Amino acid sequence: MRASWRPSKIGRFGVCALLAGGYGVAAIRPIADALRSRGNWVVSILGARESRLLILEDELRRASDVLYVATDDGSAGIKGNVLVPLATAFDEWSPDRLLAVGSLPMMRAVSDYASERRVPAVVSLNPIMLDGTGMCGACRVRVNDETHFACVDGPEFDAAGIDFDDLAARQLAFREFEQVAWGGSIA
Ligand code: FES
Repeated sequence: MRASWRPSKIGRFGVCALLAGGYGVAAIRPIADALRSRGNWVVSILGARESRLLILEDELRRASDVLYVATDDGSAGIKGNVLVPLATAFDEWSPDRLLAVGSLPMMRAVSDYASERRVPAVVSLNPIMLDGTGMCGACRVRVNDETHFACVDGPEFDAAGIDFDDLAARQLAFREFEQVAWGGSIA
């Protein structure tokens, strides 16, 4: 059994754009604090489907040099997903590094965007986990054609090497059971 998870890398990167989707803000806020304490310029982007799903906005604002808020329906901040303010952040601040914590589609989109802009990005993966010790294999992810366990090797990985197709397929493995849990039935 291996020690559980690895902490975020906190170095002197320059301008760091931190993207928090929904509850991902709970992970992003202390990272913003730590990066700022190392002299980085922290541009945070907080996104949610609608305003009532935004949490820890004030806390993230205090932890950041700049904060953009975006909601899909425009009920708070910029209308659109986090890529909309991310484009603005690139124009204004030219980030040296991105870090995203949120849903898998959001992190995948950020990864693609970073790749287009040739900027390194890190994402915090949240596959299904069971034992959290590196033994059960439930949280395995493919990174650079190698198998890793998010619970002990992550949760953060360089986005460029992640097999997002494999990850998305694995996240659907229990979809029917989840539907039942939410009151539906197995088709
Ligand atoms: S949760 Fe079991 S190996 Fe990671």
